[in-house]
Parts: sequence; C-alpha cells; structure tokens
Amino acid sequence: MTTEQPAVSGDQEIARRTDKTLAVPSAPSTFADDLSHFMLVYKFGLAEIGTKISILAEELAHRGRGNPIEHVLPRLKTTQSLTAKAHRISCPLNLDDLRARIRDIAGIRIVCSFVSDVYTVADMLTRQPDVTLIETKDYIARPKTNGYRSLHLIVEIPVFLSDRVVSVPVEVQLRTVAMDFWASLEHKIHYKYDPDVPAALRQELAAAAEDAARLDVRMERLHREIHGPRR
Ligand code: GTP
Ligand code: MG
Repeated sequence: MTTEQPAVSGDQEIARRTDKTLAVPSAPSTFADDLSHFMLVYKFGLAEIGTKISILAEELAHRGRGNPIEHVLPRLKTTQSLTAKAHRISCPLNLDDLRARIRDIAGIRIVCSFVSDVYTVADMLTRQPDVTLIETKDYIARPKTNGYRSLHLIVEIPVFLSDRVVSVPVEVQLRTVAMDFWASLEHKIHYKYDPDVPAALRQELAAAAEDAARLDVRMERLHREIHGPRR
C-alpha cells in the first residue's frame, strides 16, 4: 500500500499546485490525467530499487567473486494493464482503491546465476533500513503446480517528493536463469492457448520445470567445486 506523510488533499491537488500552466483557466483534469500523475511515484520507486540493485551488482563484482546478478528487468504497468487488473479483481477505479489493492504497479525482475544467489540478493535488499518487506511468496521452496519457480517479494521504498515522502510498493521477482528461461516459454504458451493449455503440454512443461531445477542444483554444485561458496 502507498502511504503518504503528511496526508495531502489528493494527487490532483498536487498537480494543480505544481503545474504553472494551470494559472490560466484550462479544461478540468480527467481521470486519465490523474492516473498518469498517480503512476509517477511508482516510476520513482522503481528507479530507487533499480539503483539499489545496480549498486549491489557492481559492488559484489568488485569483491572479485563474480556478480550474482545476470540481468535486471524493471517494468511499470501501463495504465491499460492497471485498469484491466482493477476490472479483473473488482477494484473500484479510484486512486485510493488502486493504491491499496494493486501492489505490482512497479515491478522488477532480478535474474541471478544460482538459487543461493536469489536468496543472497533478496536478503541484501530487504536488510537495507529504508526497504520494508511487506510480503514474501517463495515459489522456489513451494513451486506452483505448473512448475513455476521464483521468489516474489513486495517491498516498500520511500520516495522523496518536493513536499512529502511517499512509501511506494514494488514487486520484486527473483529467479535463476533456468527458471527465467522456463517462465518466459510458459508465459508464451499460456498466452497462446489462453486459458486452456492442453493437458499433455502442461505435463511436458511441469517436467521441463523439474529438469530446470535439477540443472540449477547441478550448475551450483559445479560452480562451488571450482570457486567455493561465494563470500
Ligand atoms: P497477479 O494478479 O498476477 O499479480 O497475481 P498474484 O497477486 O497472485 O501474484 P503472484 O506473486 O502469484 O504473481 C505475480 C507475477 O508473477 C505474475 O504477474 C507473473 O509475472 C509471475 N507469475 C506468477 N505465476 C506465474 C506462472 O505460473 N508462470 C509465469 N510465467 N509467470 C508467473
Ligand atoms: Mg501480484
């Protein structure tokens, strides 16, 4: 949930106060205007988390034991996908309800080399004093029935605006390269057959997820044999 300190009289009010062009009478703002202004803080929250991840990756690389982060993919929900999700979960289309109920407006995927790196990076991020862990879904410890594996966190991060501080939720997905490979193919298949993936294909996908998990174990074992555990 996005909390604001101190309480302000709405995003629209801030927009009016800061936009000098509104000194002359203009058309009343529409919900679309309000929504695009509302999305701004999520963009800033995403930038804050992105910076933290870049710092971790670069600093860990400098320690000389390799960078555990293979790649990072930030994404901001489009207003269309936000309103589609609101519709899907029967969330009323007003900013307070959207803020309270949809916590993956800002999302970042962190793809790591090995499973242990996933937990190490998650720990390093959530131990930072300005990061508040709101929710953890560990689909690595408990994979979904289709085989999906990833560690999902919802964290909150403060964003310093000109006149207030807002606490912005960001969904963080952490997974290995193998899990990412599987998830991107599964996503395409799911999209193609939406909603009914044939049973044989579902079984094949579940088996492929097991193969990927075995590969992760094997690769990590090999890595440790060569380099020892990461410091
Ligand atoms: P959402 O309404 O999608 O946010 O679902 P949720 O609130 O139950 O969240 P969950 O943490 O389970 O999943 C959020 C996101 O993780 C999704 O939007 C996908 O990006 C990803 N995800 C979850 N399950 C799967 C899956 O089975 N396959 C793939 N490819 N991605 C998944
Ligand atoms: Mg979600």
